[in-house]
Amino acid sequence: MIRKCLFPAAGYGTRFLPATKSMPKEMLPVVNKPLIQYGVEEAMEAGLTNMAIVTGRGKRSMEDHFDVSYELEHQIEGSDKEQYLEGIRTIMDSCSFSYTRQIEMKGLGHAILTGEPLIGDEAFAVILADDLCLADEAGNGVLAQMVKLYKQFRCSIVAVEEVPMEDVHKYGVIKGEMIRDDIFQITNMVEKPATEDAPSNLAIIGRYILTPDIFDILKETTPGVGGEIQITDALLKQAKEGCVLAYKFKGKRFDCGSIGGFIDATNYCYKKFYK
Ligand code: UTP
Repeated sequence: MIRKCLFPAAGYGTRFLPATKSMPKEMLPVVNKPLIQYGVEEAMEAGLTNMAIVTGRGKRSMEDHFDVSYELEHQIEGSDKEQYLEGIRTIMDSCSFSYTRQIEMKGLGHAILTGEPLIGDEAFAVILADDLCLADEAGNGVLAQMVKLYKQFRCSIVAVEEVPMEDVHKYGVIKGEMIRDDIFQITNMVEKPATEDAPSNLAIIGRYILTPDIFDILKETTPGVGGEIQITDALLKQAKEGCVLAYKFKGKRFDCGSIGGFIDATNYCYKKFYK
């Protein structure tokens, strides 16, 4: 069983400056809910209750968000405004939260390795909260779909999406052998390839299930593209030594790490959930 979800949330979020100068990108609200809360809700829906967050300097507001706010809650007690806190109270009643800090921002792979003491020796999920994923038509969240697959295959799984060829340079891109129309066994992976070097247009998005041997591989992984320790490099090693699957998820995903994707998500969620 997968119980723990790791949220690497220590990045600088430079694409959102100046908003992210003193505020974490993960606390940007899509309508009235911060990105990190959407991620935690998706993890909960997949049956995970231990949330492990990798934070960094200036990211304290995430910890405060998943804690009580006595003065505010006392002020609105008994009023109809209390309803706005129902969702977050349910999360706090059902989940535990633990935090660790990434001291130097050496990339996503390094952030995941920083989370090792919170995860230990068990398979775990990873959510990048700046990729906002919404459930498929049947209401199954993306992570829930992946947890179901993990029960069957028992290996690391990355979520992938077809992207336009002109966008492949923004992602880790996979090559794989199809084992079902929506599942590929990975044979190659390239981080942020030029269009002509991309092995496909199947891009890795911010949802992973990782087996714990990934930590030892990450310890040996040297800096790759951009001088950062890349999870893609570690996953390629894992794929070559054993098996890593890519899963073409069902549902909708918004790249909220970019301004355009964030605006699209806001408009979509406002129409779908609030109008
Ligand atoms: P991004 O590539 O989006 O980087 O990280 P970023 O710093 O958040 O944003 P920009 O590009 O400067 O605008 C992908 C995910 O990995 C986390 C980020 O918090 C984000 O969830 N991350 C990245 C870390 O936790 N630590 C790092 O050193 C790098």
